[in-house]
Amino acid sequence: MRVLSGIQPSGSLHLGNYFGMMKKMIEYQEHEELFCFIANYHAQTSLSDGKTLARGTLEAAANFLALGMNPEKSTFWVQSDVPEVQELAWILSNFTPMGLLERCHSYKDKIGKGIAANHGLFAYPVLMTADILLFQSEKVPVGKDQKQHVEVARDIAIKFNNEYGDIFTLPEPEIDEEVATVPGLDGQKMSKSYGNTIDLFAEDKALRKQIMRIVTAPIPVEEPKDPDVCNVYKLSRLFLDKAGDAALRQRYQAGGLAFGEVKQELFETVRDYFAPQAEYRRELLANPDGIRETLARGADKARHAASKTLRKVRKKTGLVY
Ligand code: ADP
Ligand code: TRP
Repeated sequence: MRVLSGIQPSGSLHLGNYFGMMKKMIEYQEHEELFCFIANYHAQTSLSDGKTLARGTLEAAANFLALGMNPEKSTFWVQSDVPEVQELAWILSNFTPMGLLERCHSYKDKIGKGIAANHGLFAYPVLMTADILLFQSEKVPVGKDQKQHVEVARDIAIKFNNEYGDIFTLPEPEIDEEVATVPGLDGQKMSKSYGNTIDLFAEDKALRKQIMRIVTAPIPVEEPKDPDVCNVYKLSRLFLDKAGDAALRQRYQAGGLAFGEVKQELFETVRDYFAPQAEYRRELLANPDGIRETLARGADKARHAASKTLRKVRKKTGLVY
């Protein structure tokens, strides 16, 4: 099965990114044909500073590699190193009704927040469609917020295939219900744009500070507490096995549990869980040329796969004359 997903290189990596997407992607490389890329074109819709984007791209690559992405077992590249995707996006935009894009929640949410509408933001799902279809992806693991975009990709693929025959594989979104939405410090979805994240590779002091800011209900220590409405519990359970989960629930329900205590435990858990990866990440970032070489090899592999699809599309749509 061919599995594909991308992650934007903007900002530092948080638990929502990791548990919502990266962890699963890294596991996929063991038993599926994995395509994974850094969506730097997409990041341009929210980032105009070139230096920040370039640095963020290297860091995002280091994050993935440090967390276990193995370029021998997968195809791992930077989106803009395979410019074929832009050509496909243009071709597909002619199969994209305006209404389909106007209905996209992510676009509407951004406009609602006062972000100025520009064509990049509006056309974002078409580029994402090109990412998916160019590689004939079957399964696209994403967080809940991106599900609609994968459905858009499917709709566009159907429209194109109706016209030209079975050129594109129809992709399916894959959402892991267990961790569908990782809550942030305030209980809303954890997101860079809400400033409510817990960052995987934060320094200890900053990490502890973030975790201590998790919002909890004003319930006296001695009273029993409902774990299912507690943000600290919801985050802690991401790291627990069944027995650990049951034990923590028991402590909430028994009474006598102080939120400060479970926050401290969560801090230690996150710190220890990611410590080896943080060390490897530092080593990778100390040699950016090494990262660039790895990415260039990945782009070669990706271009090889991309050119197969694009050759067919160009021929069918009359670009080969
Ligand atoms: P952010 O919302 O912080 O900008 P991105 O949009 O860059 O995060 O998300 C990158 C990937 O991580 C996407 O697949 C997205 O669906 C997933 N993701 C982000 N935040 C969460 C979350 N809180 N819970 C689950 N998945 C998430
Ligand atoms: N839009 C996705 C996000 O912000 C990133 C992305 C770009 C992506 N292209 C993709 C995800 C293709 C899956 C498939 O998270």
